[in-house]
Amino acid sequence: SSPATIHVNGKTYKTDSWFNVPANVLAATTRKLHLQKDHPISITRQILESKFPGPTYKYHNDFDPVVSTVENFDSLGFPPDHPGRNRSDTYYINKDTLLRTHTSAHEAALFRARESPGYLISADVYRRDEVDRSHYPVFHQMEGARVWDRASVPNGDIVAAIYEDLARLPTHDIVVEDPNPPHHPERNPLQAKHHTAAEAEAVAAHLKQSLELMVVEIFSRAKAAAVKQDPNFVDEPLRVRWVEAYFPFTSPSWELEVYYAGDWLEVLGSGVTTQEIHINSGVPSQIGWAFGIGLDRIAMLLFQIPDIRLFWSQDERFLSQFAGVSDNLGTLKRFIPFSKYPACYKDVSFWLRSTSAAGGNSKAANAHDFHENDVMEVIRNVAGDTVEDVKLVDDFTHPKTGRKSMCYRINYRSLERTLTNAETNTLHDQVTQALVGKLGVEIR
Ligand code: PHE
Repeated sequence: SSPATIHVNGKTYKTDSWFNVPANVLAATTRKLHLQKDHPISITRQILESKFPGPTYKYHNDFDPVVSTVENFDSLGFPPDHPGRNRSDTYYINKDTLLRTHTSAHEAALFRARESPGYLISADVYRRDEVDRSHYPVFHQMEGARVWDRASVPNGDIVAAIYEDLARLPTHDIVVEDPNPPHHPERNPLQAKHHTAAEAEAVAAHLKQSLELMVVEIFSRAKAAAVKQDPNFVDEPLRVRWVEAYFPFTSPSWELEVYYAGDWLEVLGSGVTTQEIHINSGVPSQIGWAFGIGLDRIAMLLFQIPDIRLFWSQDERFLSQFAGVSDNLGTLKRFIPFSKYPACYKDVSFWLRSTSAAGGNSKAANAHDFHENDVMEVIRNVAGDTVEDVKLVDDFTHPKTGRKSMCYRINYRSLERTLTNAETNTLHDQVTQALVGKLGVEIR
């Protein structure tokens, strides 16, 4: 019963058997929280943008979320069997068209356009995922990149040009741990066919300084917000470290982690962009770096927002707390939670359809095609933002029949009011029926 066509931002798209975008996710494409004045996501974007000034960096904040599989995956060197391409992870409109899973989908086009040596893209991105207070099927990313062109730097000396630009960047006084060599032959290789070690190291040095400045900015803003609330607030000195990472479209690659609330928190992914992207974008003489950062998690930390669903709330008790901040970032304060309404936990236990009984029914949730994200989405579709989290609390395989059973615990809790018992029971019944109808499971 999927629609034959759908509309996103005034454009019409034909669906096919790949279509898997639920109505609530489709509706989110109109919200553009990163552009909504005084919204915490938008404020966070502005703070990050302030560390990447124009005209070197050009900002792109209105790219359409509908992109091709080529843009989202192939142009970035994702292999054909990469798990990110699965329908269990990604929202498809049709076989060749999807809701972008990351802002990197626009990388190749911007390299090709050569409008500016650097850019920032902020946008909504879409991923099928679990349900809890830090995951939502729609979130926001900022992507940034900086390139240099061998053909246009003085004397063709790209290393000198990069270090000159690096010398012009501000400095900071944070001690950053960076224990690994700039590249590693197996884990984090230099693109030796295209870059000298000196070139890659120059790009890395510029990348790291630029991104460290951004992170220092975030955490000094977070501290200022905390002090505003509690003048005696003292925090530990900021600890930041670079760790090796892997992305199909950068090498070497790094993540930047920050020590926060007793744990190392991954803040961003980055690296030296693969030369194939520049070559395929028609600019083989370009080399550069790129990074991607999730805005929602950063906003949660800046404002101390406890639940990612709050970003989607239209409740004045939420929105009014940020009034005026877009025009004066210095007035940023921590969020003061309004009363927390009671949680209501309900379990649902079901048998997956056994593999042998599945008999070609594509909807059958047998042990092979069962994916937890499907459960998450069915629940979210029915219960919307009144579901706070969903956890697998038990699973076992029957020793004789080989059938698999799962038990999920759903926490129903509205951010805006107390749910009545009757209301929660009705929701839970509807969730149960939808699991049967959509996944073909058998309730125990
Ligand atoms: N697109 C990556 C992600 O979503 C982040 C990234 C961007 C990594 C650019 C490297 C360079 O995880």
